[in-house]
Amino acid sequence: MEQPKTVISVASLKEIKAPIRDELALFEDKFKAAMESDTPLLDRISRYIVKRKGKQVRPMFVFLCAKLNGEVNESTYNAASLVELLHTATLVHDDVVDESYERRGFFSLKALWGSKVAVLVGDYLLSRGLLLALDNNEHHLLQILSGAVKEMSEGELLQLEKARRLDIKEDVYYQIIRKKTASLIASSCKAGLATTSSNKEDLEKIRKFGNYIGIAFQIRDDLLDFGSEDIGKPVGGDIKEKKMTLPLIYALNQCSKAEKRKVINIIKNNSKDQAKVAYVIDFVRNSGGIEYSQQAMYDYRTKAFELLHTFPLSPARESLEQLVTFVTERKK
Ligand code: IPE
Ligand code: IPE
Ligand code: MG
Ligand code: MG
Repeated sequence: MEQPKTVISVASLKEIKAPIRDELALFEDKFKAAMESDTPLLDRISRYIVKRKGKQVRPMFVFLCAKLNGEVNESTYNAASLVELLHTATLVHDDVVDESYERRGFFSLKALWGSKVAVLVGDYLLSRGLLLALDNNEHHLLQILSGAVKEMSEGELLQLEKARRLDIKEDVYYQIIRKKTASLIASSCKAGLATTSSNKEDLEKIRKFGNYIGIAFQIRDDLLDFGSEDIGKPVGGDIKEKKMTLPLIYALNQCSKAEKRKVINIIKNNSKDQAKVAYVIDFVRNSGGIEYSQQAMYDYRTKAFELLHTFPLSPARESLEQLVTFVTERKK
């Protein structure tokens, strides 16, 4: 598909959230309660996490997918909280792995409390998620989400392995982002719908929809890393961490052997050198790698829309369409 030439209207996150405002407010209370601890350090950190909340895209997918087939219920709230707990746990760990000091426009837990605390807090959040599901007899939600937790670890490890060898091809890139990002978004969509439907065919369709959106979500994230805008977390961080993402993989496939050697050498030996990283970013921008990746992202979005349009038209479906568009146009 060609890149849309007409200016598509992109609803703001606030606008997309409006129809599920009450649900999200109740979710926030439950999410907060799920993290409570009488260990003073954990309690302080939980309050810090609640104050610096993210976009809440995954709970939004949970609620909207549930609403495709019925009314939001207790299980839907449990699913939304579980998903956000798992997501937060992986971000806290991810900032240790990526040695990243900024998250959501402020210091990361890794920056403020160090790696030891961040690793333990990530484990704590994961365990609170599991307990939340068990305490509420949500065995079916655990079934849907445990696979994603496994895949996220595999994806991050595969990425680390490839960062050491710098030999990544497109198929491996897609394998990594499918595991580390799309699996949780796919499970969020499926878990949401599973709280209002037991139609196996629909559940599989919505999982696939989430998978496509998750892939588009991470391509967008990787594109933002090549920008110069404030996105609330470091830009250029992927190259610094020797992560080869789609724009760079494409650029390396287009250039001469000598240029390729030069760029790989910078990533291998000078990835913390600002000026050299800037050179690599320019190299990618001038190679058409940005446009190529944008197109790939739009192709996934098209596949997601096709699946979504097999569900009957409803306000929830319309909101999901807006959310999909937001994911691929977002600025942070
Ligand atoms: C960040 O996810 C991690 C990725 C999968 C790229 P989000 O961009 O959803 O993070 P928050 O929750 O809004 O901060
Ligand atoms: C996504 O990858 C990380 C997870 C799925 C946990 P990134 O490392 O690109 O995410 P950000 O950019 O730090 O949010
Ligand atoms: Mg990271
Ligand atoms: Mg990133």
